[in-house]
Amino acid sequence: MEERRRVEQEREDLLMRAQLARAEAESANRAKDEFLAMLGHELRNPLAAIISAVSVLDRIGQQDGVALRARDAIRHQITHLGRLVDDLLDIAHVTSGDIVLTCEPLNLATSVQRSVSNLASTGRLERHVIDVRAEPVWASVDPTRLNQIVANLLTNAIKYTSPGGTIRIRVGGEEDQAIVGVADTGIGIPPSLLPYMFDLPVQGDKRLDRAQGGLGVGLTLVRRLAELHGGRVQVFSEGPGRGSEFVVHLPRIEPAKPVDSQSVLRVIGKVASAR
Ligand SMILES: Nc1ncnc2c1ncn2[C@@H]1O[C@H](COP(=O)(O)OP(=O)(O)OP(=O)(O)O)[C@@H](O)[C@H]1O
Ligand SMILES: [Mg+2]
Repeated sequence: MEERRRVEQEREDLLMRAQLARAEAESANRAKDEFLAMLGHELRNPLAAIISAVSVLDRIGQQDGVALRARDAIRHQITHLGRLVDDLLDIAHVTSGDIVLTCEPLNLATSVQRSVSNLASTGRLERHVIDVRAEPVWASVDPTRLNQIVANLLTNAIKYTSPGGTIRIRVGGEEDQAIVGVADTGIGIPPSLLPYMFDLPVQGDKRLDRAQGGLGVGLTLVRRLAELHGGRVQVFSEGPGRGSEFVVHLPRIEPAKPVDSQSVLRVIGKVASAR
């Protein structure tokens, strides 16, 4: 009798401790998200002020080559900083549930090709071979967010693959899933890091190659956006130097209207020798 009571008491204690630990972890997580949101907002204002000050200098400042180049550099770096801040705010908003998706039925083949073309038009894909294989498949998605997912994965693929490497983008259906895959022939990922790829850098050690800059939040954002759509994202790599593939799964829906079922194959970009 005595023994049973003791065991029960121990079990209750354990349960209580587990609940406490969980509550603490959740509160730490919330605090981190609130901190990110606050940091993002705080950084926004000075950035906006710097941009407008540069515009003033454009009007009244010196117009010689050195001054023009210096102002260009400021503008360029501020734009980059602005993008980083947007990423931070996005992470915070997605986490706190502040992001509301505006979903519509879309043929992912078309949407993904548009994202690739957009990035291609900035010249950033020029140094790699880009191979797009897209079969019509439909999903209910927020076009802006889908573009963000694809752009993040593509940007990573070119960032972590030497010039001349190949980036393969595939879109298609697998049973009840719409699939978007981005594979590269780049630096690859050690097996020990695969489970942490979608965590924020503070959580998993992702210090693989941070020489390229960036906050290290792109993949976290990709995963959260995929999950907001009721989907998920996976990563595959056979190891360092052997390339990687990121695969996004989204719930598939029936086509909104009849589509040409022929598969589309397009190649954008070209092989460029390393500079
Ligand atoms: N295609 C890839 N091949 C190899 N490693 C990758 C690839 N994509 C991401 N990684 C690794 O995962 C890390 C996290 O990627 P993530 O996109 O979250 O951050 P980032 O690209 O460093 O910065 P940003 O916030 O600008 O996206 C990268 O720093 C890199 O080490
Ligand atoms: Mg990235």
